[in-house]
Amino acid sequence: MRSASTGVRVLQGRHVSRCDGELRTAWAPTAPARTSLRVNPEATRQGRQRARWRLASTTLHAPLVALAVLSRSRVPMSDSTFQWALIGPGSIAHRFADAVARLDGCRLHAVCGRDAHRTRQFADRWSRPGDAAVLAHTDPAAVMSDPAVDGVYIATPHGQHFDFALAALRAGKAVLCEKSLVPNLAMGQRLVEAARAHRVFLMEAVWTRFLPLYQDLGAWLREGRVGALRGMQSTFCFPAPYDPDSRIFSPALAGGALLDVGIYNLTATRWVLQHAVGEVPPLRDLQVHAKLAPTGVDARLAVTLDFGDGLVSQFVCGIDGYALNAMHIVGEHGAIILPETFWEATRAQLLPARGTPETIERPFEINGFENEIREAMRCTRAGEIESPVVSHAETLAVLGWMDRIRALAGVKYPFDDDFPSPLPGHRPAD
Ligand SMILES: NC(=O)c1ccc[n+]([C@@H]2O[C@H](COP(=O)([O-])OP(=O)(O)OC[C@H]3O[C@@H](n4cnc5c(N)ncnc54)[C@H](OP(=O)(O)O)[C@@H]3O)[C@@H](O)[C@H]2O)c1
Repeated sequence: MRSASTGVRVLQGRHVSRCDGELRTAWAPTAPARTSLRVNPEATRQGRQRARWRLASTTLHAPLVALAVLSRSRVPMSDSTFQWALIGPGSIAHRFADAVARLDGCRLHAVCGRDAHRTRQFADRWSRPGDAAVLAHTDPAAVMSDPAVDGVYIATPHGQHFDFALAALRAGKAVLCEKSLVPNLAMGQRLVEAARAHRVFLMEAVWTRFLPLYQDLGAWLREGRVGALRGMQSTFCFPAPYDPDSRIFSPALAGGALLDVGIYNLTATRWVLQHAVGEVPPLRDLQVHAKLAPTGVDARLAVTLDFGDGLVSQFVCGIDGYALNAMHIVGEHGAIILPETFWEATRAQLLPARGTPETIERPFEINGFENEIREAMRCTRAGEIESPVVSHAETLAVLGWMDRIRALAGVKYPFDDDFPSPLPGHRPAD
């Protein structure tokens, strides 16, 4: 573990812009010229197929923009069935598809993945009897040019989010994109500009903010049930098997603990402050202790966000081991505990210093994704380009914090050179 705090840079970050073969390069959205290539012959066949997904390059953007112009000419959305397309049919995409299958007013229309067989299997798994079969594509342009598609859910590794989201916005498709929306703040700002320019809905899929439990928790905080807020402590750690090419460890895919799981500690921090204090006070100090993986991404971070007057949020996020994964919110007169997996919590305890403890349990209606999906559809149907629950400003604020934390931890992505941080006084990792 090494430490750093704002204004005093004591960490030497590793620059990792390595790519391990054509497969990785084909999907790396930025700075391909800076990557050193080591072509794996076994990957070349798949690589040719997957190269079609190389959306970052202007080569593919040009036809996608042309398709976007055609696609935008579709009639405005009515209250008819909302047609979703899904890009990146991996682990979490099943949860989204399951929620869509069980929600009224929407259906999964198409799936797009790199591998034709796996994508077809996914589409078949989520095709409903009596309904048209879910389409399976390996070419993202087929999704963007399909006038039937109302919204696109993006569940690829972080490194690909920007390109797919930008292509979808330009095509006039509402975007619900998995966290972290993009690898850095500058890329987030570009996407928000695109959403505004094209008047298309864009939301980072921070499902935690839509959970039923958090509605009750918000009421406890607004009512001052723990008195004046004093701070928060939270952990989100899990042991990921080390694979330098995986989305968890690869810098080219914007891996690392912070963007994968620490984002929940950060968004929960902001959410608690907003409900307990009414706003997020300016950050007075930021302290980061970091352990880096051999690839240069953050394997474990211990972070203190200092909002002044003793109000702090401390968290540990990691991809190298276990933690209790709880969140403790403490105030002048008591505490609130989310005892397990706080980002998907269904149970919370209120422990007043005097008085009787209370426990609330709020199970998911479907699987926890239902309310973020409903919100994306509501906003799109209403012609809104953002949701007040996960606003563009919220996403950008968290991205700004993540830029600062990564700089202090010495974690640099290949994207950071092409999209330098706009934060005043920000210095990218050396
Ligand atoms: N909301 C949540 O609770 C939650 C939970 C977990 C993850 N997530 C987020 O969801 C996103 C996907 O995570 P996941 O765990 O579902 O990942 P995953 O299982 O690895 O699936 C990733 C998908 O993206 C595709 N992909 C495209 N380019 C890729 C590349 N270069 N390397 C690897 N896969 C690539 C994969 O294609 P193939 O099928 O061809 O391999 C796969 O379909 C991430 O943004 C993550 O942070 C959210």
